Amino acid sequence: MANDSKREAEPCRDGDHGKFEVKTSDGWARLGLFHTNTHKLKTPTLLPVVNPNIQAILPSEMWNMGFEALITNSYIIWKGEELKAKALDEGVHKLLNYPGVVMTDSGVFQQYVYGDVEVGEVEVVEFQRDIGVDIATMMDVFGRPDMSREELEDAVAVTAARGPAALEAAGKTLLNGPIQGGTHADLRFDSAQMMSGMDFSVHPIGGIVPIMENQRYRELIELIVASKAGLTPERPVHLFGCGHPLLFPICVALGVDLFDSAAYALFAKDDRLLTPTGTVKLAELIEWPHLSPALFGNTPEEVRKLEKDAKIELLARHNLHVTAAELARCREAIRNGTIWNLVEERSHCNPELREATLWLYDNMPDDLILNTHPCRQGGVRWSTDMMSHPRIIHAGHWLNWTPPPVDHLGNNIPLEQRVVVVLHRNTGPWRESAGSLISKIVRDWPQVIPVIYTPIGLIPFQLEDLNPFAHILGPDGLWDAILPDFIDEAEIEEYVSMLTEQLFDNYMEKILLHNLDFEDELLLERLEELIGEPKPAGEGRRGDVKSHHQRFAICDKISLFTGLDYEVTHSIANDLTFIMSRTRRVNNVLLNDVHLFSQRLTDGGLSLTTDGAKWIYEMMNSHSEQEGLPLVVLDSDAEPFVRDGRNVMHGFIVGQKGLLKSGMPCLIINEVGDLLAHGISQCGPRELLSFCKGIAVKVRGGVTLIEDTDQ
Ligand code: GUN
Repeated sequence: MANDSKREAEPCRDGDHGKFEVKTSDGWARLGLFHTNTHKLKTPTLLPVVNPNIQAILPSEMWNMGFEALITNSYIIWKGEELKAKALDEGVHKLLNYPGVVMTDSGVFQQYVYGDVEVGEVEVVEFQRDIGVDIATMMDVFGRPDMSREELEDAVAVTAARGPAALEAAGKTLLNGPIQGGTHADLRFDSAQMMSGMDFSVHPIGGIVPIMENQRYRELIELIVASKAGLTPERPVHLFGCGHPLLFPICVALGVDLFDSAAYALFAKDDRLLTPTGTVKLAELIEWPHLSPALFGNTPEEVRKLEKDAKIELLARHNLHVTAAELARCREAIRNGTIWNLVEERSHCNPELREATLWLYDNMPDDLILNTHPCRQGGVRWSTDMMSHPRIIHAGHWLNWTPPPVDHLGNNIPLEQRVVVVLHRNTGPWRESAGSLISKIVRDWPQVIPVIYTPIGLIPFQLEDLNPFAHILGPDGLWDAILPDFIDEAEIEEYVSMLTEQLFDNYMEKILLHNLDFEDELLLERLEELIGEPKPAGEGRRGDVKSHHQRFAICDKISLFTGLDYEVTHSIANDLTFIMSRTRRVNNVLLNDVHLFSQRLTDGGLSLTTDGAKWIYEMMNSHSEQEGLPLVVLDSDAEPFVRDGRNVMHGFIVGQKGLLKSGMPCLIINEVGDLLAHGISQCGPRELLSFCKGIAVKVRGGVTLIEDTDQ
């Protein structure tokens, strides 16, 4: 939301009306663009509720503050003779003097608050269409949380039954299809599925105002998760009546795109100020706990003395500024991958919200975890909830490791003879702090598998540069605070076997823990006790151990990033050659002189070259039982463009195989199975075929036909 008063509305292009496009995502959180005839609306955003009769802040000022859409009530306009005539005559945008997107509600909220409304279900939709709104709302049945299950089932069924007539009445006007079902997750899911089956443009989650008013946030989060699971992913999700900034981060993290609320005005009338962490009463303030442009130059005492309307206007303006700023903060957090840090921060501001957040951690949807890319540039800031954040959960599942089958001299070592040494008490890079100790140990006892303790779990020493494991940002104490104060050997073993369970299937009986702050001699003595005499003067050179680890690190990374079995990747270990960086780290990975992968030194990840993609596809075809990379099957119309390196756009995809994950590599093939390109998926499997606008796969390299026939 730029705060630029000279901004003009940007209508959508022909053919884009009603399309929703995701520009960036992190898990379910998404930065989107909703294309309407009036404006391309950037999401997540909030639509301030505007009463056509009373406006403390004018809609034109809201536009200038950066609010690109607002919501007003068509029933109020319909009921007022003068308003109705003017709206029908000049259109709703002129009536409100607002250049942005206008959404209207249908009077259902009035029905909930005041009882009955006089207007007919179809008539109210026709009216919204006739006054030129961008997004109209059908007449749903407000499901209150105190209704019986039967009543709520009825609300869901009647809302769905009214859908077809409402859609017909709306014509080309975009229409909201609300989800009802009270606090019953199964009803929300059913309602979402039924409404998704019709041609609505936006899905508001309705009936939540009384749930929020009573701070029943755990139930709110549960019903959002249930609704999202039942909704088709390519339409924006709106949270009807949710406007407290405190709730934005968690809702945005769960994929809510639109909010609307009169909170800014209602709280202002009640002499209350919104802040991102809660609401404060003007009466209790000596100083401002949270500043905004609206408050500059005024003390709380001075504002208290203002005449009533001026005071409401000032507080409403402040509340809007706070709302806009918190939404900007959420959008920025999606961009920089910190939305879950913001969720965690806000969770500590309110006990009910904390309860809801903890519930979510325990019930994190698999689809959300799998589409949260674990390996990225940049550190992970240590926090209390870090282990429950989707990126860290995903990283733990992802690192499913198999040790190299041979030692640095090429000898096979049976699994049962191996000894795991867990090194801890030090931050990375471990190649610097533990590299020479490890080389020495492995030369003396080749059966040793060195493993590093990190605050988010163990990693094999050879993967010591892999993000996020290698990039946990926190105080030194983090590396030892979690370790127990060891008393006896039995306790150590129990503890270490618990730690190693995540990496090994418990087939390695012998495990040693070594604190890097201790003398190296201590570890050597213990290894001698456990395994026996070292090989005389150590066999092989130190360099052999280092290059053994480097070589198998690359094999491991190929498995992690391409889904090829360890059996396949370990089998090529000795055929790989490397081009090294100036700091002696592997840069390019070659197989039989062909450059297949490049190692990213920033996050320890691997990037594929086009030859790498071809090799993987060959491996997948010759070892069909393994997973490999997910495949996106492209429509033939787009084939020449994608072969040429252009991105895969939604709407040109006819199928998929394997489990696509947002932010991870995939291969693009045509319907007869020719490899066309490789790239990074921008979405998960649910989104791939549902969206019809935006980039589905960012292509990193295309397979040209000339190259193809050369082979
Ligand atoms: N405003 C707040 N909640 C609702 C709802 O459930 N339905 C409609 N139509 N409007 C709302």
